[in-house]
Amino acid sequence: MTLPFAPAPYPLARPRRLRSQPWIRRLVAETTLTPSDLVWPLIVHDGAEDRVPVASMPGVFRLSPKAAAAAAVEARDLGIPMVALFPNVDPSLKDALGTRATDPDGLIPDCIRAIKDAAPEVGVMTDVALDCYTDHGHDGVLEDGRIVNDTTLERLAEQAFIHAHAGADVVAPSDMMDGRVQAIREALEANGFHDTLILSYAAKFASAFYGPYRDAVGSAKQLSGDKKTYQMDYANADEALKEVAMDIAEGADMVMVKPGMPYLDIVRAVSGTFRLPTFAYQVSGEYAMMQASIANGWLDQDRAILETLHGFKRAGCAGVLSYFAPQAARLLG
Ligand code: PBG
Repeated sequence: MTLPFAPAPYPLARPRRLRSQPWIRRLVAETTLTPSDLVWPLIVHDGAEDRVPVASMPGVFRLSPKAAAAAAVEARDLGIPMVALFPNVDPSLKDALGTRATDPDGLIPDCIRAIKDAAPEVGVMTDVALDCYTDHGHDGVLEDGRIVNDTTLERLAEQAFIHAHAGADVVAPSDMMDGRVQAIREALEANGFHDTLILSYAAKFASAFYGPYRDAVGSAKQLSGDKKTYQMDYANADEALKEVAMDIAEGADMVMVKPGMPYLDIVRAVSGTFRLPTFAYQVSGEYAMMQASIANGWLDQDRAILETLHGFKRAGCAGVLSYFAPQAARLLG
């Protein structure tokens, strides 16, 4: 069959013109990734050794307060604005209520003070949840097989206060109880902590990708059942917007979507709808999955790290929590 018109011998619109040289690619890039976009999660422990490798997360170590302070100095030197602390507590110190979560001389307050001594210009964020301190591994208080919401709120508010008192700049509730942001905000305001920021894990999904973290903080063995009665169902997106709206109304300054890579649609929806600083957490399972491929030579380490982190920026993130933060900052520096 002959066409009724002669096709043009060349295309008139050529998107490749904008890709033809490094300088023009740089000039027209829509988004950027710099060390200022990164938050470095640190696993800290109360054991004797300074650095203990985490088997399921190659390159990640459980750090003593002293080693965490050294990491914060490294963060400062690399231009990383904030570190986030996650505790690995000795099993003998865990109980049903997570008593140690509110110990003013506990592991996290010790680490906050050590970091603030060594690198005061680095922001310190803490995780507000009970799972690292409870013998059942749940984020809240467990009674008759149920996580009791309102009793948990009191524990979380006290935990956030203890962190702020020790010098935390940002408290980040990751427990997914209803009303926790309000409870924490009220406790902070009532105690004079008017400037402590709340970064709420507003849309946190019940995920298989937390597996290596539970190994890292030593809550995997403890956990009875799953967290589906409080963490979100991954089938839902509209519900994430409701969670975020509630947390903003309750006093959150910033919000988080977690996990990261499988949830970029949620990041886009949240940042586009609410226009407030939105973060994502490239969690332990995402890190482990990439490290396993890198170790096998299946993924190019540097390119894969930067591409995934840049994806979060493109989706609308203000910043990203990633165990790759120091590596990425070195590549970007
Ligand atoms: C819970 C908490 C979790 C992570 C951070 N805070 C896991 C969970 O809900 O079991 C996961 C972080 C990661 O996987 O890297 N307080």
